[in-house]
Amino acid sequence: MEKFKDQPLAPFPQVPQGLARILIGGKIQTSGFDTREVQSSCADQGKQVVLGRTANVSAEILQTAADAAHSAWQKGLGDWPTARMEVRVSAVIAFRDQMVLQRELVCRYLMWEIGKAWLDAQNEFDRTVQYINDTVEEVKRLDRDSARFAFSGGIMAQIRRAPLGVTLCMGPYNYPLNETFTTLIPALIMGNTVVVKIARYGQLLWDPLLEAFRDCFPAGVVNIVNGKGREIVGPVIRSGRIDVLAFIGSSAVASKIKTDHPQPHRFRTVLSLDAKNPAIVLPDADLENAVSECIKGALSFNGQRCTALKFVLVHESVANAFTELLLKKVNAMIAGMPWDQGVQITPLPDLNKPAYLQELIEDAVAKGAKILTPEYGAKYGNLFKPAVLMDVPLNSRLAQEEQFGPVVPIARFSQLSEVEDYIVHSNFGAQVSIFGRDPEIVGRMIDRLSNQVCRINLNSQCQRGPDVFPFTGRKDSAEGTLSVFDALRAFSIRSMVAAKQDELGKETIKGILSGGTSNFLSTNVLL
Ligand code: G3H
Repeated sequence: MEKFKDQPLAPFPQVPQGLARILIGGKIQTSGFDTREVQSSCADQGKQVVLGRTANVSAEILQTAADAAHSAWQKGLGDWPTARMEVRVSAVIAFRDQMVLQRELVCRYLMWEIGKAWLDAQNEFDRTVQYINDTVEEVKRLDRDSARFAFSGGIMAQIRRAPLGVTLCMGPYNYPLNETFTTLIPALIMGNTVVVKIARYGQLLWDPLLEAFRDCFPAGVVNIVNGKGREIVGPVIRSGRIDVLAFIGSSAVASKIKTDHPQPHRFRTVLSLDAKNPAIVLPDADLENAVSECIKGALSFNGQRCTALKFVLVHESVANAFTELLLKKVNAMIAGMPWDQGVQITPLPDLNKPAYLQELIEDAVAKGAKILTPEYGAKYGNLFKPAVLMDVPLNSRLAQEEQFGPVVPIARFSQLSEVEDYIVHSNFGAQVSIFGRDPEIVGRMIDRLSNQVCRINLNSQCQRGPDVFPFTGRKDSAEGTLSVFDALRAFSIRSMVAAKQDELGKETIKGILSGGTSNFLSTNVLL
């Protein structure tokens, strides 16, 4: 690790400077709120690099942002919620076109602030643009389908999807751009008005996008602030001004926010929460493949993915061979700064994370686990060299808690019932990976696990993408489903216009359609 001390800071001439700006009610504000220093997760000679300042708004300012979104919503009568779909689609496309002009700067902030490898930072940006494009295509399809009339029992009806109201979007720090946009864009395009409360890391990248948000959407439709969630979110939820919460984070925080709402029956929540996705390696698994997928699954972006593999259960007959191969590959991984060529392990943005990981490791060791990577741990700044542990007991914290970091816990099993028992009794229910070939055994496991998790990956790591696939979970792992298709539905409600199929009904509907007097009741379609 020592060699990193001599490396240049970055291939870029300048460290980006944060400007501490927020967007409320169509105005970019630069004062009237507290700010705080933003440090990079990347270290220079062991010292954190200061990137600039970001806003640290009070509960009152978040409330002002919610009020601006409330005014734009105007109890559902605002220009944005009542606009034709083509108007909203044009705004989103205009925004996308301005956003791509900021690609370099956004990716640079992303890399510097959360330590995402340069290539991965660019992938996150490009995947987000792709998500916007796919959403536009999907919304056109939805619009075309909704233009048709349904006929049943003497009633004719046009059924469309209508927005829900003021939406608070809170994304996570590991995908601060992509995951926030996977709720923000569908919420906007369906006609909701939005307040974005930026994640605790990955804040600066929003700054270069503020002008695009301001210029492409009517005032108050998008409001962007940042501050300490635990201090400022409760009061705005208790004010009853938020109709929908899109939150990607911990289930403990989600439960607290949900119970804060004064009218819980009116409060819609779309949640993507904790996960402890296990990998199950069967005796006949292709070990080379299982090892390389487990490493990708457990250590991509330092294990800081909700979809990461967070516990590996290996059949005792192949446990030694699997672990030997895995260790060889983990030891060969390149750790360094996110701009280093081919880097695989980078500094963690959360400065408290190494201490937490150490606690989990010590607890597991005290209960009988063995550390296979004595060189593990924070070696240079917050660069944490991966830890691999064997024979991690199922009652240890490392087997039960979501580590969200570069620690790979492994346990051996002899009977499949042990694995099943672990999964059935887990508080998490996102995904699982099964490595094996016997159709009898794998087929039976699929049937046993399909009511425990929401995605079973065969001979491959867990993952969210491609984004057209449903992303959800059971138990403490999620509420609602996200995907290009599902998110449009999550942020809207079916609303219909119905009339009797008699002369009066037909004449009334025909008059409205031919006069183009309604935005909602219309057969115009988006091409
Ligand atoms: O942290 C959760 C992300 O959505 C993971 O996405 O599996 O495609 O990396 P990914």
